[in-house]
Amino acid sequence: MRQPIVSSGASELTYEIREIVKKADQLEALGKTIYWENIGDPIQKNWQIPSWIKDIIAELIHEDKTYGYSHSLGDKEVRRFLAQKNNQLNGANIDQDDIIFFNGLGDGISTLYQFIKSESRIIGPSPAYSTHSSGEAAHANSEPLTYTLDPSRSWLPDMEDLYNQVQYNQNIVGILVINPDNPTGMVYPRDVLEDIVMIARKFDLFLIFDEIYGAITYNGAKHVALAEVIEDVPGIAMKGVSKDLPWPGARCGWLEFYNRGSDLLFNKLYNTLANAKMLEVCSTTLPQLAIPKLYAHPNYSAYRKATNEKIGRHSDLIASILKDNPYLYFNKTYGAFYNTIIFKPGTLTSQQTLAIDDPKVSALLDPWLKERNIKADKRFVYFLLAAKGVCVVPISSFCSDLLGFRVTLLEENERTLMETFTRINDAVIEYCQS
Ligand SMILES: Cc1ncc(COP(=O)(O)O)c(C=O)c1O
Repeated sequence: MRQPIVSSGASELTYEIREIVKKADQLEALGKTIYWENIGDPIQKNWQIPSWIKDIIAELIHEDKTYGYSHSLGDKEVRRFLAQKNNQLNGANIDQDDIIFFNGLGDGISTLYQFIKSESRIIGPSPAYSTHSSGEAAHANSEPLTYTLDPSRSWLPDMEDLYNQVQYNQNIVGILVINPDNPTGMVYPRDVLEDIVMIARKFDLFLIFDEIYGAITYNGAKHVALAEVIEDVPGIAMKGVSKDLPWPGARCGWLEFYNRGSDLLFNKLYNTLANAKMLEVCSTTLPQLAIPKLYAHPNYSAYRKATNEKIGRHSDLIASILKDNPYLYFNKTYGAFYNTIIFKPGTLTSQQTLAIDDPKVSALLDPWLKERNIKADKRFVYFLLAAKGVCVVPISSFCSDLLGFRVTLLEENERTLMETFTRINDAVIEYCQS
């Protein structure tokens, strides 16, 4: 090429949640059983889709409308349904035109950052879900800007850190909140959300709230939506069908714009995304058409209640195995279906090991450990995978200086769940004592 063709921000695009799979696949090819704990896909963890959901999809298959393009922003009736659903919260009021559909929320997230000026920054949580942090960093050709979620305070945000960064960095135009949070499983209390809204109002920022896990809370927690606290501040709520139905393969998510009439610059962002959607034509039609039928179905709330209780039970089982491990900080989870488990400071070294009896597995592991500047938690994650077959994601790859790993709460078979977490617990102890 006569000159470089890839933008400098491209180096910020990494997704360890899927990178680690390449390593696990190599072990699987050697005949090793893998306990997949890397990705938030309930279907991969053998969740059964209830027949009433399948029936709705099957009916749609027989309708010709399903096979056409939809409106660029998304099917009108569906957007009207979603606007009404939001308005029932008696907070920010929207109509169908305030909603834009995408091919999965991941698509909505990357499209949004792509159209924000590269000097204008969105500050997000650390640890961070990488589609946000990498997408934001790639748009800015720079490292992500983050505020701290504090593991010693049940993962609540360090509000002083957030306030100071916003105050002293004029380039910050927006604050990202993921609620319930991936990867920590924390659910933001209302007063913390109100304080974040207050910061946005004071410094003339807009808010981005990723609420894809909004329907998934347990252990007594309740999700407070952006619409309920935002009042007059401009903001975007991000939603989708991947987690609550669960239907990740639908590739269907949407953005809801609140108070876009109150700020010209914010409204321009909406118009830009709406125009981009017109150029692209539209998002996938079938899952959109299913949305009102699924969410308004009489079985939906009972299904969610039972599923949330199940996730809560998994959260308790995992706590019963890991909470007393002397090498770890363990926080109970209240929402979404992940937990982030942190090693206590000074626990990890670059000499620790786990016993591996199969020389073929050792031969695979050796070059992984020689990765340049390998972080101490990633080193542990490689050992855990090779020695115990458990595939988790290092927390250093979630844009964090902490050392630890993310697990999911999804394993359907509770015996396998117990076995997986006993393996993790044993591995932590053996590794730290080696
Ligand atoms: C916080 C968060 N936002 C967005 C997404 C992407 O969702 P989708 O499957 O709709 O692309 C995920 C997926 O794991 C997520 O955890």
